Amino acid sequence: MNPDDPFSQQPVLILCSGGDSPGMNPLARAVVRLGLNRHKVPVIGVMDGYVGLVRTVKRLESGQITLEALRQEIVQRPGIFGLHARKQHLVLMDHESVSGIVVQGGTRLRSARSKEFLTPERRQQIIQLLRDLSVRAVIICGGDGSLKGAECLMSESGIQTIGVPGTIDNDLAITDLALGVQSALETLVWSVDHIKDTARSHRRVMVLETMGRDCGELTVLAAIASGAEYAVIPEDGFLTNDRIREMAEEMEQSFERGRIHSIVLVAEGVKMDKHSWESPAWVVASKLTHHFSRSVGPYQDIEVRASVLGHLQRGGRPAASDAVLAAEFAEVAWLAIAETGGSGITVLQHGEVKLVPFGSPPSCDRVVRLQRLHRLQCDLSAW
Ligand code: F6P
Repeated sequence: MNPDDPFSQQPVLILCSGGDSPGMNPLARAVVRLGLNRHKVPVIGVMDGYVGLVRTVKRLESGQITLEALRQEIVQRPGIFGLHARKQHLVLMDHESVSGIVVQGGTRLRSARSKEFLTPERRQQIIQLLRDLSVRAVIICGGDGSLKGAECLMSESGIQTIGVPGTIDNDLAITDLALGVQSALETLVWSVDHIKDTARSHRRVMVLETMGRDCGELTVLAAIASGAEYAVIPEDGFLTNDRIREMAEEMEQSFERGRIHSIVLVAEGVKMDKHSWESPAWVVASKLTHHFSRSVGPYQDIEVRASVLGHLQRGGRPAASDAVLAAEFAEVAWLAIAETGGSGITVLQHGEVKLVPFGSPPSCDRVVRLQRLHRLQCDLSAW
């Protein structure tokens, strides 16, 4: 490998896009290390996802930098120096630049959501840039929108593109697990554990709002793993007052049988109706409070508290299982780049890590799977 001319060896680009997820750092490390150690191919990290590519073509467009100067910038400021350079978005990665990050949450390459990448004109400029830099393949880690962007790039440019699922939401039907899900689950279980201590101490009902966008899978999995009593998810439809009343009555009965607290996980995508915009956890908590305050009998004084877990769920050290999955996704991506060819998405299906073409069907019916998991959760927590 000639570090003075990485372009003659057709580098591979890697970027992270959308909401960060624990697992993106282990992925970047694995892609760089396998590139350097196993395949002898240089890897360029793109800072700030698609935004980094957009900013680079804007620098070229405005004359701030020429293509030749950009190539020199990449060669002359590699690794840690490049990662810290304010205007530089394309960084030639070395061993040191990914050292220690396998156990770090977030993403050293940073991530962003880019509106400008959605315009065909910008994409054409980016494609030209990739050609000018003799890019062999692009690896893009992110959620639904990011992987659609990857597919678009592949079909418009013909450049080999590998999507790697990275989102805590687990809303990509094509893979059983995305990078970050298992770490977010650990964080959720930890959070519920802490909340339970105080819930028990006060005989309270605690309502926790979880992330997941419009998908309730993370919430259901977290309820199973943490022993939370309820998982309220968007897939069940609008949350009606009747449903909340039923829940409150069930709680009263279980308190009667000896339970001394109740934990309700409410997925952020839950709505009371199509116009509702309030935090669903606050809505559920206030309606439960209202119910208990009007009930006759011993449960009139049950207190309810709400917490929104928010971005806490996206941070923290990647779970060991996410770090391993990231390494396996990187290996599969490199296999396609260095040997078998073809674009697609790295997936985990029935325990097998492999590459499938963009647009492939899921390995199982995710609606049915979620229904089964939800039922399991209900049967485990009924008391
Ligand atoms: O897609 C990941 C996710 O964390 C969702 O669960 C959440 O709805 C969204 O991103 C939050 O995005 P942001 O970080 O832009 O607030």
